[in-house]
Amino acid sequence: MRCKMRGDDMISERRKSRFFARDWLDVHSITRSELEYLISLSSRMKSAIEREMQDVYCLAKGHDLLAALLFYEPSTRTRTSFEIAAMRLGLRTTGFSGTEATSVKKGECLTDTVSMYAAYNVAAVIMRHPLDGSAKAVSEYFRMMGKDIPAFNGGDGKHEHPTQAILDAFTINECCGRLEDLDIGIAVDARYGRTAHSLPVVLSLFPGNRFHIFTHELLRMPPAVLKFLDLNGVEYHEYTESREQLEDMLGSLDFLYMTRIQRERLPDDDTFYKAKDMFRFTPDMMGRTKGNFGIGHPLPENKENPSIDPSLRRHPKYWATRQAGNGVPTRLVELALSLGLAGSDFDGDVFVQRGRSGAFYTERTPGGRKETGPYDIRPIMNGTVIDHVENDPYAVARLAQLLKLRESGNIYRLGVVEPRDRPDVIKGVLMIRDRYLSDDEVRLVATISPGATVNDIRERNVVRKRDLVLPEVIDGLPNMRCTNAGCITRPEHQEYVASKAVKVGEGRTNLVNCCYCGNLMESQDMF
Ligand code: NCD
Repeated sequence: MRCKMRGDDMISERRKSRFFARDWLDVHSITRSELEYLISLSSRMKSAIEREMQDVYCLAKGHDLLAALLFYEPSTRTRTSFEIAAMRLGLRTTGFSGTEATSVKKGECLTDTVSMYAAYNVAAVIMRHPLDGSAKAVSEYFRMMGKDIPAFNGGDGKHEHPTQAILDAFTINECCGRLEDLDIGIAVDARYGRTAHSLPVVLSLFPGNRFHIFTHELLRMPPAVLKFLDLNGVEYHEYTESREQLEDMLGSLDFLYMTRIQRERLPDDDTFYKAKDMFRFTPDMMGRTKGNFGIGHPLPENKENPSIDPSLRRHPKYWATRQAGNGVPTRLVELALSLGLAGSDFDGDVFVQRGRSGAFYTERTPGGRKETGPYDIRPIMNGTVIDHVENDPYAVARLAQLLKLRESGNIYRLGVVEPRDRPDVIKGVLMIRDRYLSDDEVRLVATISPGATVNDIRERNVVRKRDLVLPEVIDGLPNMRCTNAGCITRPEHQEYVASKAVKVGEGRTNLVNCCYCGNLMESQDMF
């Protein structure tokens, strides 16, 4: 007779999986081996579901696990496919669809609401929310509270839609038979459409893919996504002039990913009217595509302004309905992995988060005539000279303001100088009398003025010299905020999530991504 596992044993068994409590917040944290594993398991699940082989997919049988579906924004496909996936897996579901009947209407903040679901011991939180970075905020909150509840981002504002990108990749693989060396078109709204942001990033895990982005000038792909593609050496082209540009490319595309104009997220209707018909896909266009071409769409279509002509819905190259159907097996697998119900045979790479560890300065031994003396730092007997600040008087003044130097009254000199011995180097300089910077202050200077040098002066000698670089992680500094008004960290949303950013790329750079909404910024713009 088979011995039944006790509850404790079942939990510890689940915890052993490498995927246990894995979040699905954005596509940047998905590795190629994870995606390949996901796709192969999803295709097994898909055929098992079609054949009603419950033993294969009902992996939570015998467990008492609940999934909370917290949908703050409208949804048909994402919510329903997650719900069906959860049910087929053997979970029970709870939550809400729209906030009308919830305490959100009484002014409750997001983390307070999700903390209740944690208190009720749900096993997973699947959410959709209007603020960019909201799912990340929930995940960080769970980690802080010591809860191993995975968070699934079913769309956070205009930021990302990672589980959609996985089902999109799964569909493209079904259509094209591969995920590499493809010409992928992305059309209509690359600016506010979160699915359009996630797709090229996830497909850039595979070599040789080229992206062709067809949008109105006002709906172009965000700089954060383009920068990511640049840094990873991925080929992409933007087409913003006319529909002929799409017509010209039709014969070369393997897959065209159409999207809906996110009218509800546009600042005004003007953009909608300017862009609405520009890249509409017509039956005539279909006639000029390759034999194994496919056209997809995350759906919904807007009936007043469909991106793909409705007469094409039953065309064999129309993939959008099959694509939506793929939401069930892929999401079932994601849930199974994060709950530790599958994945024990995975031995590939997992994502490694960028750490705080990297130093934000290098020490240089002060020495030589120039450093010890008469030229640069002569005016100060004791104190700090911040050198090589950006060549901009405002940047220097802002640095002084952030270090609260006016209040303390010990600025000796502030401005842009042209050293006598090196007139080619025009640089910002800030001289502070009788004061040395704390580590946090040096971190602040490194953040807003990477490339600067901090000199500690004692008895007119440079006793310490630090060349600053942008810290790997930027957090905990006073008055910092993300420049994206839709980011959950912005104080006006009253969600009480502290701003945090990470360095983009390597070496000398001042570029950062918001840790929550992914917004690309120059570090000084956060202050
Ligand atoms: C999309 C979404 O909500 O981001 N739909 C979906 O999840 N399948 C796209 C859209 O709303 O246009």
